[in-house]
Amino acid sequence: MSRRVHWTPDVLEEIRRRCDIVDVISEHVALRCQGRNLAGRCPFHDDRSPSFTVSPDRQLFHCFGCQAAGDVFSFVMRREGLDFAEAVEALARRAGVALPEREASPAERRRRQQREALYRALAAAAEFYRRHLREGPAGERARRYLAGRGVAPETAERFGLGYAPPQWDGLLTALGRQGFEPAVLEQAGLVAGGGGAGGGGAGGGGGAGGGGGARTHDRFRDRLMFPIRDEQGRVVGFGGRVLGEGEPKYLNSPETALFNKRRLLFGLDLARAAIRETGRALVMEGYMDVVTAHQHGFTAAVASLGTALSAEQAALLRRHARQVVIAYDADAAGAQAALRGLEVARRAGCEVLVARVPAGKDPDEFLRARGAEGFREVVEGALPLLEYVFQQAAAGRDLATVEGKVAVVRQVVPALAAEDNEVARAAYINRFSARLGVPEEALRRELNKFVREGAGPEGEPPRRRQTMMEKTGGAYNKRNAWDNSRGFVQAGAASHAPDRPAPSNRAERRLLGLLLRHPEHLADAAGQVDPGDFENEDLRRLAAVVFEADGAPVPAEGAGFWQRLDDPALRELAASLVMEEEPFADPARVVADCLRWLIRRRHEREIAALDHAISELAAAGRPVPPELGERWQALHRAIRGASR
Ligand code: CTP
Ligand code: MN
Repeated sequence: MSRRVHWTPDVLEEIRRRCDIVDVISEHVALRCQGRNLAGRCPFHDDRSPSFTVSPDRQLFHCFGCQAAGDVFSFVMRREGLDFAEAVEALARRAGVALPEREASPAERRRRQQREALYRALAAAAEFYRRHLREGPAGERARRYLAGRGVAPETAERFGLGYAPPQWDGLLTALGRQGFEPAVLEQAGLVAGGGGAGGGGAGGGGGAGGGGGARTHDRFRDRLMFPIRDEQGRVVGFGGRVLGEGEPKYLNSPETALFNKRRLLFGLDLARAAIRETGRALVMEGYMDVVTAHQHGFTAAVASLGTALSAEQAALLRRHARQVVIAYDADAAGAQAALRGLEVARRAGCEVLVARVPAGKDPDEFLRARGAEGFREVVEGALPLLEYVFQQAAAGRDLATVEGKVAVVRQVVPALAAEDNEVARAAYINRFSARLGVPEEALRRELNKFVREGAGPEGEPPRRRQTMMEKTGGAYNKRNAWDNSRGFVQAGAASHAPDRPAPSNRAERRLLGLLLRHPEHLADAAGQVDPGDFENEDLRRLAAVVFEADGAPVPAEGAGFWQRLDDPALRELAASLVMEEEPFADPARVVADCLRWLIRRRHEREIAALDHAISELAAAGRPVPPELGERWQALHRAIRGASR
């Protein structure tokens, strides 16, 4: 499949040359000339004015409305919901560029063959289960169970639902007859108990040919089977539900070479088209929720396989959807999982909303009770993250009391701190303080205190406690970091600045943008600052790529640069920095100003850390090593010199 394609910088450059970004985008967007650029209505958000700009010179696009940005590969990835490899393939096909098939090493070939054997076994198993659900007396109970839960036969077909018969060796025997070795079935997670680890939970079902404990046997028996497919629609595992009551309610495939819960979303293969079309995904908790949602026309529904959304799952969603609506069960665990999922999805760059399913029901029950119309109201009434956090916090509290106000503020502040859009944050501070009847200033002070101290009350959402180094120092880098192994300062992850909402990112952003647009200043800049001087995490990661190769600067226009940016978020950031032309009469001077600013901040932080260390030493009655004092003086001289 697509993983087999292989490209080199030359090939990418060739594709880029032949696929003019204007041609590619014009197929989807009506573009009009606007100065040196072209403009149109953004295909990635509901755009009234032409906010979407394409630069033929730079071969980049950028939307001033929704911040989507990138090169021709990014456009195709976003527009078609592909990953980078798939986008390369699609554009290569379009341009008639042959992608060299890579010669696989024998080890690679063996691995691939093994994986393909697993795919085949899983597909055969899905077919086996499906057949048992459709026909035969054993499947009757399962058919009745599904009917009782309102699942139409067409829906069951669409999801490929199945039934695992009760025998201990039903699948083993049937697939054995088709030539599948027990070892392969075990690697696929379909059978257990053979020689190796075994360990499959003993579910229900009468033990027919089971016999001795260690014999290989079907993992899933007498269960309703939900095939879990990857994005391409290949079965990679199963969830099996007991018919009625019983423990465990669900038995899932074990982790295998193909089945990794964190990287899969149940239903994504079926939901992909609808998600891309609407730009919005509906994330639920359970298999049944998703099946019922699709049946009622909510075809953008996927399930996170029973856990809170993982970062991998969020990234997977982000490739298709700008907006994620979380519709978890209304119970406390569901609310907790929703909150965690929210934070994860937000960090992946999605706009996140929470649908509040009325208490006591999960989406599946609610849909059956109230139908599509009722559920549509729930989805349309989904609340933005911060609003949801506020309402969760306020629920059951008396906001007229001091205790109530304090408790709500404590829960809301971490979420406010995580909001990095200044306008949104200001708007929420205004709204919340009005509702709580406290002055905005008080809320803002609590927020600042939280940001400074970095302590998350009740750890929710999880925020790491800052080390002392970070509190006083922030971003340190290798070049100037003084040796903290001596134990004066509690050593922390010194290069890792806390991602506080820093108003000071402007200089970082401006500098990096200028360096991308005017690469002639790169060598000089790389000699003075390094990525550790960038406090904003994304900017720091981008700076690392820009400054890469020991100061041998990477020109922004080269294919090599864009190829190295394999993280789509960084590609977008880089493209928007390039496209956000700030008209500076003298870019060289602005570069110098920004550099001075970053260096000064670094010096000030180091001084603060030194001050702290020295006062601790003094307090402990220990001598201050002369190098510390010298360093302190040198830093002060540097700052004075720079501001002269
Ligand atoms: N889950 C699991 N193992 C369990 C229980 C739950 O893997 N023992 C996962 C499944 O993916 C399940 C999801 O968590 O779909 C949600 O669990 P739950 O709400 O208990 O189940 P439902 O899907 O709602 O199933 P049902 O409506 O049939 O009770
Ligand atoms: Mn349920």
